[in-house]
Amino acid sequence: MNKIVIAIDGHSGCGKSSTAKSVAKALGYTYIDSGAMYRAATLHFLNNHTVLTNPKDVKKGLDTLDISFQVNPNNQKQETYLNGLNVEEEIRTMRVSDYVSEVSKIKEVRQELVAQQQKLGSKKGVVMDGRDIGTVVFPDAELKIFMTAAIQIRAERRQKEILEKGELIELDKIINNLQERDRIDSSRAESPLIKAEDAIEIDTSYLDFENQVEQIVSLAKERL
Ligand code: C5P
Repeated sequence: MNKIVIAIDGHSGCGKSSTAKSVAKALGYTYIDSGAMYRAATLHFLNNHTVLTNPKDVKKGLDTLDISFQVNPNNQKQETYLNGLNVEEEIRTMRVSDYVSEVSKIKEVRQELVAQQQKLGSKKGVVMDGRDIGTVVFPDAELKIFMTAAIQIRAERRQKEILEKGELIELDKIINNLQERDRIDSSRAESPLIKAEDAIEIDTSYLDFENQVEQIVSLAKERL
C-alpha cells in the first residue's frame, strides 16, 4: 500500500504530539517525536556539563549521543532512550525545557538530529512532529500541517500534562517558558520555526481533539 510522510509543525504546547500520535495510530504509521530527540540531546549535554559555546565539547557530546525509541509493552507508549537508559520522564522536566531551545540552536546538533530523523522516515509511513519537519527534514512530505493555539490554552494543557507526571508548576512560569522557546525557535538562524508555504494551518484552541485528528487523517487519505 502507498504510504506517505506527514509533517506536523508548530509552536510549543499546541497539541502536536498527542495529535500526531493519534493520527499515526489511525493510519498504522510510526510516530516520531523529534522534540524528544532535542530534549534527549539536551539532557545528555546537561549531564556531561557540555559547554555549548565550545565546538569541541559539543562534538564530544554528539559523538557519545545515542537516542532511540522503544514501545513500552505495558501501556504501548513510545518512550525515549538515551544511551540505553529510559529518559522519557526526565526529558519532560522544566530543567530540560528551560535549556532545550539553546541546544536546538546549535548547527551541528541540528545537522546530526535532522540526519537521524530523515533516516527514521526514509521508508515513509511516518508522522513526525517538530518545528522544521515540513521545511527542512521532509520538504517533500505529502502532507504538512502547521498547528497553532492561543498561549493561555497551550500553557494550561502543558501544566496538566506536567501535573500528571507529579510536578506542579505555576501557569506564569509555563507561559514564560513557552514564549521564550517560541521566541528562540522562531528567531534562530538555523532552520527557524516557520510555516512551510504548502502547509495547512490548523488552530487547535477551540477544536475538539477527535475532530482535529479526523481532519488530518482524511487529508492524509486524500493523498494516498
Ligand atoms: O516538541 P517539544 O516542545 O518537546 O520540543 C522541545 C524543543 O526542541 C523546542 O522548543 C525546540 O527548541 C526544539 N525542537 C526543534 N526542532 C524540532 C523539534 C524540537 O528545534 N524539530
